[in-house]
Amino acid sequence: MDIKELLLANNQKDLLNIWESLAEKEKKLLESDILSQDFELLDSLYKASLQESCVSETEDIQPIIFPHSENDLRREMWHATGMHLLKQGYAAAFTLAGGQGSRLGFEGPKGAYDFGLPSKRSLFALQAERLLRLSAEAEKQIPWCIMTSPLNHQETIAHFEENSFFGLDRNYVRFFPQGTIAALTKEGTPIVTKNNRLALVPDGNGGCFRALAKSGCLAWLVELGVRYVFLCNIDNALVRICDPVFLGALAANGKHEAIAKVVAKRDASEKVGIFVYKNKKPAVIEYTDMPEDLRELKDGENLVFDGANIGIYAFRIEALRKMQKTPLPWHTARKTVENIPDSLKFEQFIFDAFPALNSFATFGAYRDDEFSPIKNAEGNDSPQSAREMLGNLHKSWLIQAGVKLSNDKLYEISPSLSYAGEGLSKTIFERELGKNILEF
Ligand code: UTP
Repeated sequence: MDIKELLLANNQKDLLNIWESLAEKEKKLLESDILSQDFELLDSLYKASLQESCVSETEDIQPIIFPHSENDLRREMWHATGMHLLKQGYAAAFTLAGGQGSRLGFEGPKGAYDFGLPSKRSLFALQAERLLRLSAEAEKQIPWCIMTSPLNHQETIAHFEENSFFGLDRNYVRFFPQGTIAALTKEGTPIVTKNNRLALVPDGNGGCFRALAKSGCLAWLVELGVRYVFLCNIDNALVRICDPVFLGALAANGKHEAIAKVVAKRDASEKVGIFVYKNKKPAVIEYTDMPEDLRELKDGENLVFDGANIGIYAFRIEALRKMQKTPLPWHTARKTVENIPDSLKFEQFIFDAFPALNSFATFGAYRDDEFSPIKNAEGNDSPQSAREMLGNLHKSWLIQAGVKLSNDKLYEISPSLSYAGEGLSKTIFERELGKNILEF
């Protein structure tokens, strides 16, 4: 089918008119965008966007229970198991960094953003240096896959180049762009940019399974002998990337295909997705899809529906392979695209993978220790809150290590000294203050 037939067969007369009006070179570029799209899918997504989505009354929604792993007696065993995996080269890290960071309003890749730490470490630097520390401890370089998007791919690589890969062996770091999908006007027509290209936007973090396989990175991990993959977002300043305890917990359980970290919600109104059992399957329900009475329901002081999804998961490699072939649902967001308000953007979400898994569990973590995302320019989940949470956490590590700190300063400790609070002392503090420990 040639392009004309394709567009006519899919009711895209307006797009055909634009294409026909272009010069040869521009025609070719728009043609490649058009051919990259599945118009039947776009049509069905448009039709679905016209219907309301909310938890329907026929769905059975039950809360999950998530005991805190900090208090779990198996914690030491999990840590030892996780370190064994790292030493053997059985574990890898996978960071999702294809988002556009529109709420933050930073132009470049969010991972390259300097959020005001005294060291000026970016979010990528924090993850890279934590991996470096763990790799040194394991005496084995941990492979790291980074999913970008076509919009930030080159800039992401440039950030690593400018920083000499933060000391990591570059042979163990792979970048690949996620897929894209055309944004539509609210009338359902693909949006064409000022440069006469289709407005193609990242297909959501759920595109990671497809992109990991398509890029060859999944095959690379298999070749390296990797069996467990730690997945996280780029925007969490406290993430314990490749956390051995977490990986160990997955490996120690013979049946789970994946596990997810969760934290208690700040309060009922916090706009996060939460883990539930939906029709007996593990699932995440987004804030807006959760009926208000369930969202507010309490048992004494505690919310009944709790367990916030914080974008930290570990998958067995077989589960990643399976997810690559499992179609995920699409979600619609109404956003301004190319100055057209109320445009339709379609995304898949990684958490929609969980109902497809045969066995899955949540793993409770403490927010103050592990979760401080940078989403907004100010207020909650902002550069300022992330700076303060990291500063307070690192200060608490020093206090636990016996350092007397009777000031209102905060501290930033280089990951080269400590990954999660270990290895610190009064002597190290005195030696490293102003070098690898900075006060602010
Ligand atoms: P968010 O959904 O919070 O999006 O991403 P965002 O891009 O950081 O910010 P907004 O919504 O535009 O303000 C959660 C994680 O998923 C990744 C992001 O990079 C982040 O690590 N992500 C999101 C992708 O990798 N691809 C996407 O298409 C969307």
